Amino acid sequence: MAGEDFPSSGGALDGSAPTTPKPVLEAVPTLQNLKISRVQSLDNLNTTPKDCTYWREKSLRRLFSLSKSNGVSKSEGVFEDSVRLHIVEESIECLRRNDYGGYTIPAHNLYPFQWNWDSAIVAAGWAVFDEARAWAELETLFSGQWEDGMVPSIIFHKPSTTYFPGPEIWGLPGSPSKSTGITQPPVAAISARFLFEQTVHGKLAEKKMADLFPKLLASHRWWYKARDPEKKGVVAILHPWESGMDNSPAWDAAMKFPTDNLPPYERKDLHHVSASMRPTKDTYDHYLTLLYRFKAENFYDWKKLYWVSPFRMTDLCTNSILFRANQDLRWLAMKLGKDDVVSEIDEWLDRGFEGFKQLWDDNAGLYQCQDQLTGKLVDAPTSAAFLPLFAGVASKEQAAKLVENLKQWLDSVPFGVPSTDPNDPRFEPLRYWRGPVWIIINWMICNGLLHYGYDDIAERIYDDSVALTSNAGLREYFDPKTGDGCGGELFSWTAAMCLAWLDRPSALAIGHRMSGPKILS
Ligand code: DGY
Repeated sequence: MAGEDFPSSGGALDGSAPTTPKPVLEAVPTLQNLKISRVQSLDNLNTTPKDCTYWREKSLRRLFSLSKSNGVSKSEGVFEDSVRLHIVEESIECLRRNDYGGYTIPAHNLYPFQWNWDSAIVAAGWAVFDEARAWAELETLFSGQWEDGMVPSIIFHKPSTTYFPGPEIWGLPGSPSKSTGITQPPVAAISARFLFEQTVHGKLAEKKMADLFPKLLASHRWWYKARDPEKKGVVAILHPWESGMDNSPAWDAAMKFPTDNLPPYERKDLHHVSASMRPTKDTYDHYLTLLYRFKAENFYDWKKLYWVSPFRMTDLCTNSILFRANQDLRWLAMKLGKDDVVSEIDEWLDRGFEGFKQLWDDNAGLYQCQDQLTGKLVDAPTSAAFLPLFAGVASKEQAAKLVENLKQWLDSVPFGVPSTDPNDPRFEPLRYWRGPVWIIINWMICNGLLHYGYDDIAERIYDDSVALTSNAGLREYFDPKTGDGCGGELFSWTAAMCLAWLDRPSALAIGHRMSGPKILS
């Protein structure tokens, strides 16, 4: 059962219509008109010991719950004639097209390698029609894990000429690196638990998880030793690329440090996507300054980077994901009988819970990132502010204030959730993480909202996500004012979100038809 400190189902919101009219789109399927049975959460996982603190006993919404209410989805064979059938088929096709053999590139040309958090999310998409392939995604990701435990942000499995900065920049021209020297939000344990929990191939899942668990644990240990040496309870990112939200307005002030004399470079991203949708040259100069400075530290020595980086930030996205990933790692540890590591994870959770309290800005009614070098909260209203709901660390009162803000944002644009408050002067509807809607963020926010009982607003964001993908397809991100697709096309994690979340019942029906709900292996 959800913790007593949360509002009960539904009641807190009025669900009133947005004040900004939406552009007219084709008839959009919604939860109601598709009459999709909703996926019930697993509230009683019953895996926490009796003596743990109250917030640890709270179970969160299942990862791809569509709503708090109703019964378990009767997915098999029921939704194959849905109006979104073509999206499901296109999503499956998209993952296959982007499959480079054990790993899925995010999008052709623009991102031709394996990206860390993309892959962890994409694994959940593969799972609906090919569980073995889903596990392979995580295995291949962890094949790039460093000895110190770090999982790099990008793994350069095969050469490509369409991306900058590639292996020669991260390494040396004569000795290209196998990966970047920085990381990305640690979604892997969340994804691994999901694969393990929803498996229909128990033996396969047990075997894969036995191999994976120590690697996941090592990666979480890396976060704490490398990125929280001062034991703040929350970890630091040292490069905006580590947040995944590369050009968020939350980094603007901190990214004002003087840049170094850089070797001349050519932006390859601008061959694939309009410059209006990408970070600026000044931002890239700062990204590269950080990269070269980190490389100069004995090729990304974790013992040094934390202390020398001119950019050191407590990022809400990374920390919310890490906090939830810790809960999932704990759940896995209990399932696997690894009781010896539970107290270590509990310590991370306890300290993390305290650490998040420092990130609450009561005046704004939002969580804020914190610049660790100045100690100041960063006054930048971005969609990361809502991700502590996904972590489950917000109190009932904080959740209510977050929702109040979120509703204002949603009322200001036809399609939510914009990555920056649309009423903030820094909002740019087309430019990457400065305004566009990202479906993976919508999913995490929805999941958190359901956990706190805000079903109506979660459903509104779900419906917007369905409308955006119906109208514009599997794009990287979307203009919140027009619903147009932006950035990369046939984008893997957007496809994965359709399969694992937006169209889950249909996708499972098709997936089971393709691979069968049972594999005898
Ligand atoms: C890019 O190149 O845009 C990536 O986000 C860096 O990881």
